[in-house]
Amino acid sequence: MIMPHMPRSALAAALLEWYAAAARKMPWRGQSDPYKIWISEIMLQQTRVEAATGYYLRFIAELPDAAALAAVPEDRLLKLWEGLGYYSRARNLRRAAQVIVEQYGGRLPKTARELLQLPGVGEYTAGAVASIAYGERVPAVDGNVLRVMTRVLGDDGDITRPDTRRRITRAVMREQPADRPGDFNQALMELGALVCLPRQPQCGSCPLAGLCRARAEGRQAMLPVKKAQAPRKIEQRTVLVLCAGGCAALQKRPPRGLLAGLWEFPACAGHVSPEQAMQQARQWGLTPLSAEPLPAYRHIFTHREWDMHGFLVIAEGSGGPFEWVDWDRLRRDMALPSALQGFERAAFQILSREKRSNHP
Ligand code: ADE
Repeated sequence: MIMPHMPRSALAAALLEWYAAAARKMPWRGQSDPYKIWISEIMLQQTRVEAATGYYLRFIAELPDAAALAAVPEDRLLKLWEGLGYYSRARNLRRAAQVIVEQYGGRLPKTARELLQLPGVGEYTAGAVASIAYGERVPAVDGNVLRVMTRVLGDDGDITRPDTRRRITRAVMREQPADRPGDFNQALMELGALVCLPRQPQCGSCPLAGLCRARAEGRQAMLPVKKAQAPRKIEQRTVLVLCAGGCAALQKRPPRGLLAGLWEFPACAGHVSPEQAMQQARQWGLTPLSAEPLPAYRHIFTHREWDMHGFLVIAEGSGGPFEWVDWDRLRRDMALPSALQGFERAAFQILSREKRSNHP
């Protein structure tokens, strides 16, 4: 179909010109495989581009299409996602891939409306994939776009409210050029990531500075308006790296809730003493020989914070409700949340040092 000629808005013209020069290279850009774009967009929710790139390349190398993703065992999927956080994103990806195989012959559906029916695909993801891969004229409004547009418009509505989001989405669609919806959506995101920064917007190098109401009124720092979130709940925990016979004890977390299905070191509530840690090990049927303190770690989740102490407990026996795994297998196969990686490294270092001093 030949599009009738539509003049671009001043905003779209300035933004696309800037994007042509400033867009970062990303491995999923410049091609139109909807599967790859979908994976990248899910990874980029809650994760910065620099952090996501390595994960993306490993993921695509091992699971290059929906059929491969639909068939991958959950433990392997979680290992590929290890450290990215928000693990339900990975599980939903696999469920969606199964639907794509069963209902669409292994190819992603071709419209935002159908994409929206897939598990884990919301308005943002459906809009991003359909506009970038298929050139469909749909919005893709993420946090970056909300920040850019509330500032350009001088809109002080609370961006956690649906009516504000609808107003911003309508404004995006008024500006979006019919011939390049995917580039336009990505350019808005990119401007939010590189120039229209949350705390220190770089208005001096912004292509939209002359059109920006917040800038004209000196209100950049006040926008967007966002209702304060409830404070995080802080939980104290003591992580026990139990080691016996060259293996460490791991437990699988429940299939629902925080870090569902990932592996973890056993832990007790609160901050406990070395003696209490040894007592806990006895209750699991082990014979603890020593409990050496590990460095403390703090990990921040969306609604919760873990304030963690830890011990390396050397024990005899290998009972309890655990999977006992050697360190090679732990690192190769078991998905451990980032919150616990520090304990894993610290315990491994101590054990290696002791091994060296026992066998000089
Ligand atoms: N953040 C999420 N998706 C993005 C994209 N396609 N381009 C730039 N930033 C993004």
